[in-house]
Amino acid sequence: MTAPARILTIFGTRPEAIKLFPLVHALEADSRFDSRVCVSGQHRGMLDQVLHIAGLTPHHDLALMQPDQTLDELTARLITGLGRVMDEEKPDWVVVQGDTATAMAGALAAYYRKVPVCHVEAGLRSGSIYHPWPEEVNRKIIGSIAALHCAPTETAQAALLAENIDPATVHVTGNTVIDALHWITARIEAEPELASGLAPLEQRFAGKRIVGVTTHRRENFGEGMAQIASAVRRLAARDDVAVIFPVHLNPNVRAVMDQELGGIGNVAMIEPLDYPHFARLLAIADLMLTDSGGVQEEAPALGKPVLVMRETTERPEGVAAGTAMLVGTDAGRIVAEATRLLDDRAAYAAMAQAHNPFGDGHSARRICDLLAG
Ligand code: UD1
Ligand code: UDP
Repeated sequence: MTAPARILTIFGTRPEAIKLFPLVHALEADSRFDSRVCVSGQHRGMLDQVLHIAGLTPHHDLALMQPDQTLDELTARLITGLGRVMDEEKPDWVVVQGDTATAMAGALAAYYRKVPVCHVEAGLRSGSIYHPWPEEVNRKIIGSIAALHCAPTETAQAALLAENIDPATVHVTGNTVIDALHWITARIEAEPELASGLAPLEQRFAGKRIVGVTTHRRENFGEGMAQIASAVRRLAARDDVAVIFPVHLNPNVRAVMDQELGGIGNVAMIEPLDYPHFARLLAIADLMLTDSGGVQEEAPALGKPVLVMRETTERPEGVAAGTAMLVGTDAGRIVAEATRLLDDRAAYAAMAQAHNPFGDGHSARRICDLLAG
């Protein structure tokens, strides 16, 4: 009998944790693997929220978040910290997800040790190295290193093949975010109190149209954030609208939003929601405004119209499906498109169709089979 393959799964931020917990659950349940987990702690509170709900206790936690961390300091700490864990664990595979600094540094440290890398959510490309920044380059670096590319869609697969990646190493697995969404939905059905914390806001805003907002992209800091705040303020001036806005912990987001939106009755600026409560927000919202990657995948899966406050997207599938619309960060354009959806029933109905271009909820199992070779 061959020894189980040692898989070191590395992540550090909220979205990576959400998209990797289904894979860690699957690896742990599979006797073909010896599953090890290292979190970088690039995020702290927002990461811990996911570890808690998913029941994960990492074998390593580098706890390296610093307030308002810069990309170069963060990346330097990540490469040395993750490299040390690899030297100790001696994995057969390193698994990283997406396009964060943790994922890029994890792939690079693995490459320095000639450990093969499995890239989950491979092949997303916007075509612009500054949108999103620095994620587009992070994922290109990982793409040039990975031995196994788990593309969520055929569009992502085609992007990798266009970069001359060996086709034998590229597989369409679906996106594990759909596995996560199914898992959390089942958990909430079994234990509704896991997502009951929004009830006071739901009562306060009863009868109003709920607009959910998230924003955090680095390329939107400064003018983009100011425009987004202005759009939210103008939308909230309507009597029939209420905004629920879980504010990202990045101080570059918080400072602007506190200053621009504090004290507005129709705007609830709240702490980041844990995943069950965010799923509840997606369920009660009439409309989402976001610059998030993950929300662009979850909203179409749930048939929730989503206005994407970015200039480009590496997730054209949601736009093609009709549930997502790219609106950029000009306040006037955001308000105009949101107003159209709120006032025009036919336009709203055309967008509010559930589509699932991102997967069927069985991506983690497919990735396990690929790792088992
Ligand atoms: C990071 C990722 C981004 C991802 C996003 C998901 C990089 C370069 N950026 O951006 O790709 O879309 O996470 O949310 O990898 N903070 C806290 N507590 C937390 C999390 C963040 O206080 O739990 C604050 C800290 O001051 C920290 C700052 O936010 O320094 C920025 O965190 P960082 O991970 O560098 O950037 P994000 O904008 O979160
Ligand atoms: N999310 C959450 N709580 C929140 C906001 C978002 O759990 O308050 C989840 C959301 O469901 C999605 C993920 O976090 O799965 C997206 O994370 P984020 O927008 O921070 O990063 P991105 O996807 O843009 O990298």
